[in-house]
Amino acid sequence: MPSKHELRLVELDEDGVNTAFRADVLQGLSEAQKAIPARWLYDDAGSQLFEDITELEEYYPTRAETEILKGRGSDFSEAIGPGRAVVEFGSGSSVKTPLLLSQIAPAAYVPLDISGDFLRASAEELRGKFPGLPVYPVEADFMRRVELPEAVADMPKLGFFPGSTIGNMVPRTATDLLRTMRETLGESSKLLIGMDLVKDPAVLEAAYDDARGITADFNRNLVRRINRELGGTIPVDQLSHEARWNDEFARIEMHLVAQADLAFEVAGRSFAMAAGESIHTENSHKFTRRSGNMLLLAGGWTPVARWLDSEERFSLILAEASIPRSAP
Ligand code: AVJ
Repeated sequence: MPSKHELRLVELDEDGVNTAFRADVLQGLSEAQKAIPARWLYDDAGSQLFEDITELEEYYPTRAETEILKGRGSDFSEAIGPGRAVVEFGSGSSVKTPLLLSQIAPAAYVPLDISGDFLRASAEELRGKFPGLPVYPVEADFMRRVELPEAVADMPKLGFFPGSTIGNMVPRTATDLLRTMRETLGESSKLLIGMDLVKDPAVLEAAYDDARGITADFNRNLVRRINRELGGTIPVDQLSHEARWNDEFARIEMHLVAQADLAFEVAGRSFAMAAGESIHTENSHKFTRRSGNMLLLAGGWTPVARWLDSEERFSLILAEASIPRSAP
């Protein structure tokens, strides 16, 4: 089933197998460094485990971003101004979105999501909280340009992309997405985007390898999903969760590390792993002020304001659609 964080429309074969999932897994397990795209972590069980992660003591990003949204309301209303159509990339989190909407007097709210179920549920919730606000949910893959509803065509747009989800993408993909967002939102649009910050690797590694083992379970859930949906025989309990700081690329990587030599099948094909070999399952890039600004600029957005939480762990950046120019 499609779920909250999956970013492409779902295609099933005659056996009900998600063909894109199978293709990604077979390809990823065939590579020298085994790797599976992170979006497959978010089936229903994975989405629920991620919700649990956001409440962990060690996992600061959700709390830090919420603190900024709560504390900087008057800054937002001043910098963003009233009358914008807020276009959220991914269905609104029931906590973060109202914090923004209540501060900036928006003219409309347009949540975009791949999953119609999540979309309708969050649209209903928002309608309940903001009775006068027109809500126009759009079921779409926002990695591609989205045609926005006619009703918001003449309104200036504010894109909202919280959670540091941009950090899941390698810079090339992140840049493509930012450029696509600019096309979706149009000229004179703005973008409010969350970016998690570079910090002590020990703090980062704890955030992605919590003491209760919820993140480990979230990671291993991918293997359970492969075994269930793709007829896999991967021994889940022989794979251990690891959160590694990659300093070269400024990112936390999640891996599943084989505890012994393993042989298994997925979708009728045989694979092997040597003890110590890993499957790379997620990147979570962390940013500095300059690297965040550079990414936005490369994606066609000019940063205009930046807010941090009180412990300076997380940033929310406001950017404006850059005006194309060739001269310096
Ligand atoms: C959903 C991408 C924001 O990278 O922090 C949390 C996912 N993975 N713990 C992140 C995640 C492990 C999360 N994002």
